[in-house]
Amino acid sequence: MRILIASDHAGFELKGLLAGHTREAGHEVLDLGTATPESVDYPDFAHELARRLLAGEGVFGVLVCGTGIGMSITANRHRGVRAALCHDAFTAELARRHNDANVLCMGGRTTGPGVAVQMLDIFLATPFEGGRHQRRVEKIEAETGLGARGSGLETDSLCADPSRDKERES
Ligand code: RB5
Repeated sequence: MRILIASDHAGFELKGLLAGHTREAGHEVLDLGTATPESVDYPDFAHELARRLLAGEGVFGVLVCGTGIGMSITANRHRGVRAALCHDAFTAELARRHNDANVLCMGGRTTGPGVAVQMLDIFLATPFEGGRHQRRVEKIEAETGLGARGSGLETDSLCADPSRDKERES
């Protein structure tokens, strides 16, 4: 499988370990940086990985920052990305089995190397169960995240009705 991996400075060391382990396990790894321990901004790397995953450049993604929180928040802004912040074997397994997660997030400052490798192995090897979980995952994807005022319907109806010009300008 082709795996995309990225981190910020706080996840840099763990990313290197995970990338090496994943290659040794026989997978192809595309390391999207960061390439040094210098301070960088985690959203730049999470957005890049999410875009490439959605473009079909990899089957799964792995994101590491200090806690995994910023990476997961950012990656989940991309519709179709299901990024799971995991802390142990159980959450890594359930993220795949129940949530069909396609990105594993973890913290370089919160998770030790042994647990990190174990989580990644489990994440890559565990299938999605489907069934009732398929319906639930579909409900995640059904939400645009824009809300009523930001939806295309609202914009279309405002544009189509000239009598609402004042409302549009306010
Ligand atoms: C960087 O100091 C840290 O804030 C970042 O790695 C991450 O933990 C954010 O969620």
